[in-house]
Amino acid sequence: VRTVEKLAVEGGTPVRVEPVPPRIVIGVEERAAVLELLDREMASGGGFDRYGGTEVDCFEREFAEHVGTRFATATSSGTAAIHSALATLHLEPGDEVISPPVTDAGAVMPIVWQGCIPVFADVDEETFNLDPYSVAERITPRTRALIVTHLAGQPADLEPLLALARRHQLTVIEDCAQAHDAAYHGKLVGGIGHIGAFSLMSGKHTVAGGQGGMVVTNDEEMYWNAKRFADRGKPFNSTESKNLFLGLNYRMTELEAAIGRVQLRKLPEVVQRRRTLAASLAERIADLETVRLGKVIDGVESAYWFLFLLVDALRLRVTKQRFAEAVQAEGLPVTPSYDHIVYDAPWLRDHQTFGHSGYPWSIAAHAQAAENLEPCPNARRAVASHILVSLHEGWTKREVDDLATALRKVEQAFQVD
Ligand SMILES: Cc1ncc(COP(=O)(O)O)c(C=O)c1O
Repeated sequence: VRTVEKLAVEGGTPVRVEPVPPRIVIGVEERAAVLELLDREMASGGGFDRYGGTEVDCFEREFAEHVGTRFATATSSGTAAIHSALATLHLEPGDEVISPPVTDAGAVMPIVWQGCIPVFADVDEETFNLDPYSVAERITPRTRALIVTHLAGQPADLEPLLALARRHQLTVIEDCAQAHDAAYHGKLVGGIGHIGAFSLMSGKHTVAGGQGGMVVTNDEEMYWNAKRFADRGKPFNSTESKNLFLGLNYRMTELEAAIGRVQLRKLPEVVQRRRTLAASLAERIADLETVRLGKVIDGVESAYWFLFLLVDALRLRVTKQRFAEAVQAEGLPVTPSYDHIVYDAPWLRDHQTFGHSGYPWSIAAHAQAAENLEPCPNARRAVASHILVSLHEGWTKREVDDLATALRKVEQAFQVD
């Protein structure tokens, strides 16, 4: 007879009482960079705008060099980076852009702001990343671009997606918001598709103050257009003297760039540490039967923004939700699901966009595209079967051990015999 320890959720002693260490993002190096910049701005009369300073210029050069692209242009957020990348395509209202359904709203809203229709293709049930077969099915004569998100740090399978894009003359925008320094076939994500977008907001692997973003590309014209769009259509690299086209002000400030530059130098270590911790957890729970690390496809190196754990609820007496709550009660930071299916949200589901117009779906020719907002069953199943762990580089062997112990304890209590 198996001896089962009483779970904390049922009044037993938790595996861990002491809080898991918080993620500390900003260190003395960032502090020094900010104070130095502050002194410079006070002496020069500057106000942290990039014009008049050098931090944003340097950050862009360093970021491009890091990712391995010819160009980078900084923006005020990841949403702004996606928007600027998309705007380089000068799409027509009603054009279609394919996106995965499980992503941040900030990766989809720019499609609609550009008057285009987001079309959701289904994902691999274990990685949450775009399934090329589903993408192929959703391509229509109006499709212009794919937004390929590398979710939770894991690169999407880019090769078949790029092949599809070549066949149908589509632009591939890589959304690297959650995948800084993730690698696909030995190359860092961002510079593999036509254009890449990063979020540098405070929770990401590398940050630029509270908010920030970066667009990277090897295509010079795309670079200039992203830079122009992110600065109200200013005529950079043009013989025209007035604003060229409709844009927005998405500029990054000197303060954000000063922090971002220091952070970028720390990035390889941050990602390496997360990889080591993930591997160590996988090893420690290898014998468990109802829970394991989510799949990582061949030829990629995940950057583990967070960890997906796949829970086999059919072998448990409880739901995945209850399983996660029991692990939480043991004192470990797990979340019951990553429930970010974008088309479930009212703004998209009910087309709450431009007044009551229903624009851009109201464009008659797109009744068919609107029907494509059908649920993506794999995405639904992926959300239903995974829990996530907010692992970060500040964890030590102790946190990994405690998590493994908690998972084992909860499995033993809930596993069906
Ligand atoms: C996959 C993805 N894309 C885009 C964004 C938007 O980035 P931001 O919050 O910097 O605007 C996020 C933000 O979390 C994200 O996770």
